[in-house]
Amino acid sequence: MIEEIKKVEQEIKEHLEKINSKEELEKFHNLFLVKKGKIQQLFDRMRDLPKEEKPAVGKILNELKKLVESRYREIHEKITAEIESTPKVDLTLPGRVNFVGHHHPIYQTMRQMVNIFIELGFKVAEGPEIEDEYHNFDALNFPPDHPARDMQDTFFIKSDKKLLLRTHTSPVQIRVMHSTTPPIRYIMPGRVYRNEAISARSLAEFHQIEGLYINRRVTFAELKGTMIEFSRRMFGENLRFRFRPSFFPFTEPSAELDITCFLCRGKGCRVCKYTGWLEIAGCGMVHPNVLKAGNIDPEAYTGFAFGLGIERVAMLLTGIDDIRMFYINDLRVLQQF
Ligand code: PHE
Repeated sequence: MIEEIKKVEQEIKEHLEKINSKEELEKFHNLFLVKKGKIQQLFDRMRDLPKEEKPAVGKILNELKKLVESRYREIHEKITAEIESTPKVDLTLPGRVNFVGHHHPIYQTMRQMVNIFIELGFKVAEGPEIEDEYHNFDALNFPPDHPARDMQDTFFIKSDKKLLLRTHTSPVQIRVMHSTTPPIRYIMPGRVYRNEAISARSLAEFHQIEGLYINRRVTFAELKGTMIEFSRRMFGENLRFRFRPSFFPFTEPSAELDITCFLCRGKGCRVCKYTGWLEIAGCGMVHPNVLKAGNIDPEAYTGFAFGLGIERVAMLLTGIDDIRMFYINDLRVLQQF
């Protein structure tokens, strides 16, 4: 019996040495100190001992039990104190970062462009993205069979054939003419929609800034001067631009404004389709029929209009060479600007 007590005592010592956590201490308790634990089992075995041996063995067992209980308490206190003194916050963890948002590069570009035109004396107007055929086409001198009206190019609102997603910001010209009188000097930024194949160069949804200046004796020279001054303030002195004769139903004469391709600096690349030039605006002198639709006398007034593509300019400023990058909302891209 004494032998066995020694064995259990040895076992207890080994266990005690290893205790490091609350869980281990709990295990120790369950093994030795509970009702069915190893110490109680030894007490139970005393029944079978001869009478005269009982007192001595009982004494040894009692001492062992006391010792174990006091060691248990000690360790328990120590571990509890350790847990309590451990900070609940891990100060070695990296701090929380507050992400500060900023405007999307398209919006930043638009603001920059708008600010330049404000400096040049323009006011800002806006129109609806859901337009009617009258403002988007009829009033802008599109003939009834013009291909741009085709379902292929225009998103019509199904429930009403007369409603559509505006294909350009030019309908706002008509709205401005109806709500003010000359001299009119407005820019009209906004989102436009076209049923186009999505590629690195074009999307079905993009942004334009429309410009309109109507006054007595406005000339094409003023249009050129305005576009060139805008381009200089926007892009600096280093870029070249050219006006290419073009056609729009709502301007006559019409032109397209090209600027040196930003990627290849004019050498020719994928973005500029190997021409060295990027088209950033359509423009021209407001067609007399459009002035009439806007209740302005074409005998008394002339004007110019232009429509600038914002994405093109944003590509120029950011160096992003795939227009889709602006819309996939990848923070790794957007955070750079
Ligand atoms: N609305 C034309 C377009 O979307 C651009 C433009 C605007 C052209 C004003 C001339 C005058 O292509």
